[in-house]
Amino acid sequence: MHLKILGSAAGGGFPQWNCNFHLSRAARTGAAGLRTRTQSSLAACANGNDWIIFNASPDIREQIAATTCLQPAASGPLRSTPISAVVLTNADVDHIAGLLSLREKERFVIYATDRVLAVLEQNSIFNVLDRTLVERRKLSLDAKSIILDWQGRPTGISIEAFPVPGKIALFLEDEAKADEGFGTQEGDTVGLRITSDNSDASAFYIPGCARVDRDLKARLDGAQCLMFDGTVFTDDEMLAAGVGAKTGQRMGHMHIAGADGSIAALADVPIGRRIYVHINNTNPILDERSPEAQIVREHGWEIGYDGMEVRL
Ligand code: MLT
Ligand code: MN
Repeated sequence: MHLKILGSAAGGGFPQWNCNFHLSRAARTGAAGLRTRTQSSLAACANGNDWIIFNASPDIREQIAATTCLQPAASGPLRSTPISAVVLTNADVDHIAGLLSLREKERFVIYATDRVLAVLEQNSIFNVLDRTLVERRKLSLDAKSIILDWQGRPTGISIEAFPVPGKIALFLEDEAKADEGFGTQEGDTVGLRITSDNSDASAFYIPGCARVDRDLKARLDGAQCLMFDGTVFTDDEMLAAGVGAKTGQRMGHMHIAGADGSIAALADVPIGRRIYVHINNTNPILDERSPEAQIVREHGWEIGYDGMEVRL
């Protein structure tokens, strides 16, 4: 199985269009040790032909332009794509807006939970994806889903979607239900176990997760690869930076550092490669020469970047 990180930044990307924090400023000037990053997305292929995109970011056009294997084959029909399916882990803007760029009468399949499919249903702009060409298929929770192309042919990739502690999409938050997770229900945020038909290896893709609980640890035990929520290094990072009032927890993202961070929570779980993705533009690990980036690396984590490849 071939995995490729298309976008390693959280919503907003890095640098973010309106951000004047020192990290975005440095990235804009091309400072050493900082890579620019597009918004959250992963691609996978197991059979050399069918590519599955995990989350369609607003930057998908640029991501496809930067990734030859996602472009129409030179020998292919006048209009074609190797992208057979798009799988969604939640309905946040950074994960669904790219669907709008995939219009143009191309056939592919969207896989998502009932909750996320309902968001597409309720927002009529997604009707630009003609239903007779772009089928929407339901992902059941805690069950293996074989990813099939529009013709029903196996793509060689299977996934298991499972609920993780998280939050309903920002634009759907119900303030009246602030005490009940702003209206969050099961299926609003899922993690994915990604497997291929031709190997026993499994990779986990969890770009949003508010907490590592016992269930999640048990699932991850023995995984070859984990791509995990690296939004913030510390919970109050956005407040400390002066760019926002929300903590990581308030946004449905657990932080990396400290006794209750993801490094510590997963330290005793055997996992092959552990890689942070969905990195916010305030996170100091974006500067690979920072002490925080060093801490992350010393604890066996890699810092995801656009174009990073994993072969399992
Ligand atoms: C998040 O991951 O918290 C969301 O992408 C936030 C957003 O929609 O901007
Ligand atoms: Mn996000």
